[in-house]
Amino acid sequence: MREADVEGRRVLVRSDLNVPLEDGRIADDTRIHASLPTLRLLLERGADEVTVCSHLGRPKGPEPAFSLRPVEERLHELLPDERIHVLENTRFNPGETKNEPSFARELADHHDLFVQDAFGSVHRAHASTVGVTEFLPAYAGLLLEKELTELGKLLGEVERPFVLISGGAKVEDKLGVLRNLGGKADAVLIGGKMAEQLRDDNPLPFDVVLPVDVVAAREFAEDAEAKVTAYDELPEGWLGLDIGPETRKLFADRIAAARTIFWNGPMGVFEWPRFAEGTKAIAEAVAGSDAYSVVGGADSVRALTELGLEDEVSWLSTGGGAALELLEGKELPGVAAIPES
Ligand code: 3PG
Ligand code: MG
Repeated sequence: MREADVEGRRVLVRSDLNVPLEDGRIADDTRIHASLPTLRLLLERGADEVTVCSHLGRPKGPEPAFSLRPVEERLHELLPDERIHVLENTRFNPGETKNEPSFARELADHHDLFVQDAFGSVHRAHASTVGVTEFLPAYAGLLLEKELTELGKLLGEVERPFVLISGGAKVEDKLGVLRNLGGKADAVLIGGKMAEQLRDDNPLPFDVVLPVDVVAAREFAEDAEAKVTAYDELPEGWLGLDIGPETRKLFADRIAAARTIFWNGPMGVFEWPRFAEGTKAIAEAVAGSDAYSVVGGADSVRALTELGLEDEVSWLSTGGGAALELLEGKELPGVAAIPES
């Protein structure tokens, strides 16, 4: 985008403003902050209008709980400039995830150029990440560039041992990626919902380090009856909502010995204090290491910032799934759609 002539132009920007929400409020605004340098540069260079678009969550249609209005409000607080507008959640339109040209054209309409800055979403071939580039000249934003530079350091030769830590909720998405990542890392530590799923059926074709114990809860509730049990002795009907104390120690030791670290996804339901200790232990271990450490994904980033540890890692990535796919060596459609990228 540094090479784009934006003066007097109307610019459409795709940012990843898919922030974690809690009780209808923004639980962590890291992704909003990360979108600012690109927007500032466009304003400084005299853009006439800057339209920001993003998805938020995975709504089935126009669900008010996934409105981008609170995000727009926060963005305007951080960057008060009346040339900036934030469109409503792109996923309110079914054409978004189907990459329908009619929706892409609708987004592109009344704009002169497109800036792709949504690193966290470039692994999706959607109307707002790929489709629009059929209708507008496309440029890479500053965050996208920075993310590719920092994460690029994990491609090719890395200092070993390389420890990959994976957790979080989007298990199906991540299992596919992990399958191809096994050979890259020297150890893959798995916690959270993914570890729960792998207890009975582990399709990964390589050795992973699974929990030895979990914090088991009788039901999925913040105040549920809970106790520590062995990983393979979870009582019938109970749920593992965090990794247990033995596992925290085991994982922390592996992390302490690492020279390169990539962490994506919390170790449990860390939004609830009684199930937050595992994620906290991992955040502290990663922050305490002097290895090259990358933490990616909205929830892991949130966990780290809540502990005030965001400056203790080498790179805090706004991408979770996107970072994993980059690491896997896959082409990212939202990047590939930018000419000469
Ligand atoms: C993310 O949070 O991982 C990105 O914003 C992409 O969201 P998605 O997995 O719903 O496409
Ligand atoms: Mg996410």
